Amino acid sequence: MYPKDFWYVICESGDVSNQPFARTILDQAMVVYRSKAGEAIVLEDYCPHRGMPLSMGKVEGDAIRCGYHGMLIGRDGGCKSMPGQPRISRLKGVQGYPVLEKFGYVWVWAGDPALADPAKLPKLPWGEGTGWVFGGGLYRIECNYQYLIDNLMDLTHETYVHPNSIGQAEIDDAKPEVSVKGDEVFVTRWMHDIVPPPFWANMIDTKERCDRWQVCQFVPPSNVFIDVGVAVTGSGAPQGNRSQGITGMVVDLITPETETTCWYFWGMARNFNIHDTRLTEDLKRNQGAVFAEDEVVLAAQQRNILRNPERRLINLDIDRGGSHVRRIIARLCNLEEISEPSSQRSG
Ligand SMILES: [Fe+2]
Repeated sequence: MYPKDFWYVICESGDVSNQPFARTILDQAMVVYRSKAGEAIVLEDYCPHRGMPLSMGKVEGDAIRCGYHGMLIGRDGGCKSMPGQPRISRLKGVQGYPVLEKFGYVWVWAGDPALADPAKLPKLPWGEGTGWVFGGGLYRIECNYQYLIDNLMDLTHETYVHPNSIGQAEIDDAKPEVSVKGDEVFVTRWMHDIVPPPFWANMIDTKERCDRWQVCQFVPPSNVFIDVGVAVTGSGAPQGNRSQGITGMVVDLITPETETTCWYFWGMARNFNIHDTRLTEDLKRNQGAVFAEDEVVLAAQQRNILRNPERRLINLDIDRGGSHVRRIIARLCNLEEISEPSSQRSG
């Protein structure tokens, strides 16, 4: 189940050229290419003539020519010409998708094209560039996208999955606050007066003990932004003064591929040492290593759940944020109930 009338990232801007490529999102096979004029174009990856993937064809101007018998499909998905076939007006075309290119990504409107609204793009203040720098990457994760959202809305897993980087025992002791504002869910956790774990200790320029925060924000349809950082204990960070601290924004743009796989566009924006390109590269490498640990866990979880379809998962206190997200996603899919294994409540 996927909320359809939203923008989803299909790829990074830099991935798109006049060499077409195939990508499936929300169970729909699509072809992505850049027109000669420079616009990103996304169509159904299917030649209406004999079913050949258009991604194996060639770009001509803003159209794509099928690599099998040469049908030319325009940017709107309509048939523009067919060799040896003078009358084409009645030939069926394929679906063309509304596309936006922003924040370094190509976004596709997966639902009713008439409802495609640029104002529904998630707000990424750090994506506008001023005062922030961003680095990130892409993983294909072999799990349903909602398990990845669960993972990001419950960071107690850091203690066990990421013990050598961002995990620390104090995460378990710091009870998170969960709140819902409209269709957004927030899980906020503060760890006071702690020794920062290696990931943060390497970046904050102090030997003092710190306060550490994690504010996870779910934004429909499947994005999670996590405001994270550490600041010297007693310097006022819990009250809003981060002058003796450092802030990062973990960016998680998640696009379902199939029921059991998803595209994970991850990254971190930061507003400190923004001209330090080496730091950007180090952060990207470290974050990529952390998320590779999640990748292993999530794929194993998905395999095991598929092997045990009769079993039900248990929702504990730590899953409260994720449970709110599931209810919101179910509502956005116009589903009465959450048709997901994790519907059982603990007693
Ligand atoms: Fe993780």
